[in-house]
Amino acid sequence: MRWIRAAGRGLLVAAVVLAGHVSAGAGAGTGSAGAAPGDGRGPMTLATAGDLTGYLGPLLEGWNRGHPDERVTLVELPDSADETRAQLTTGLRSGDGRYDILNMDVAWTSEFAAAGWIAPLDADRFPLGSFLPPVLGTAKYEDRLYAVPYVTNAGMLYYRKDVLDGAGEPPPRTWAELERQARTLAPRHGLGGYAGQFLPYEGLTVNATEAVYSAGGSILGDDGEVTVDSPAARTGLGFLARGVRDGWIPREALTYKEEESRQAFQDGRLLFLRNWPYAYAGASGADSRVAGKFGAVPLPGPDGPGTSVLGGSNLAVSARARHPESASDLIAYLTSAPVQRKVLTEGALPPVRAELYRDPELIRRFPYLPTLRASVLSAAPRPKSARYEQVSLAVQAVVHDAMAQHQDPAESVRRLSRELSAVTRRG
Ligand code: GLC
Repeated sequence: MRWIRAAGRGLLVAAVVLAGHVSAGAGAGTGSAGAAPGDGRGPMTLATAGDLTGYLGPLLEGWNRGHPDERVTLVELPDSADETRAQLTTGLRSGDGRYDILNMDVAWTSEFAAAGWIAPLDADRFPLGSFLPPVLGTAKYEDRLYAVPYVTNAGMLYYRKDVLDGAGEPPPRTWAELERQARTLAPRHGLGGYAGQFLPYEGLTVNATEAVYSAGGSILGDDGEVTVDSPAARTGLGFLARGVRDGWIPREALTYKEEESRQAFQDGRLLFLRNWPYAYAGASGADSRVAGKFGAVPLPGPDGPGTSVLGGSNLAVSARARHPESASDLIAYLTSAPVQRKVLTEGALPPVRAELYRDPELIRRFPYLPTLRASVLSAAPRPKSARYEQVSLAVQAVVHDAMAQHQDPAESVRRLSRELSAVTRRG
């Protein structure tokens, strides 16, 4: 399989065999051959949050074999979004140009762009028209492209099919059904009812935002104004707080990030789990106790399907990148159709290219693709703010208190509204 890249704005065309081998004579003919100081071409580093499925190194080797003068070095930062963000921003604030390409959480684009840490990109160099529509919005700030979608993500509800089938019940479509099944069926099987990612970190912001969106509410409006104080937000936080209070969300889930919650589900300790699609691969693996016994459906909401928060990551070029031309070409490579296929087949991560979700062979191998596609298409982005970190910290703190200390959802929503108003006023 070949893909063609227009290098140096169409001056050079290279053909690279996707398995990573350079086709005869083509390797030296890429932009790398002409690498010279000042032309924006040369070696690079790519920083990413933990590569949980270990697929990215081998994928980048495919690029490196074809581009010996534009090699990319992978730098893996911690697993959690917050720790990665902290490491990146510490470096960026001090003007450290160590990383040329940032594999950034979709939630950070506004903040990084507003701070001048990432450079605007030339939209014509990337296959933007091939992406699932919602993902593109996460890559823009003030209508300019600052990053290129690379991996998308949407929360799904994993459920124990064996348990529900045994009770003759379908998977829940509403919170009331989920709550009833979690209260009644789970204890009969010695299972916890429901978990998500409820430790105070970005994952809790995601879970809480999903609850608010699913009930029809919002956190910030399009112009950044605080919109959270609404009956819908009270309903959303009420769902999460009630779960802990009434015991169908195990208290232990207040300490879960993605990996702890995935482990609990695949160890056979939960009836329901909200997680990203990557958890499907682990729960199907040889060391899972629930392989073949679970399914995944869209997240439920108060009266029907809920709304997932759009997750995933975008690739951005640092404003201090040493070789921005090579960086853009690498991003084009990583978003090309064959590489995007490997993001799914080798990384178990949701690709951004729409056509892959309709591929019958892929659907056979990854039966959750249609559910995931529907979830991504109806997913909503997190609030956009140049002060996103503070926004997220406020959401996490308030929601964790509401859940762990059984605080009144109405009072929690009022407190969140006050804290967010203080954050956005400072902006
Ligand atoms: C996943 C999502 C990302 C989100 C994070 C929260 O990595 O892709 O967007 O911020 O989880 O924990």
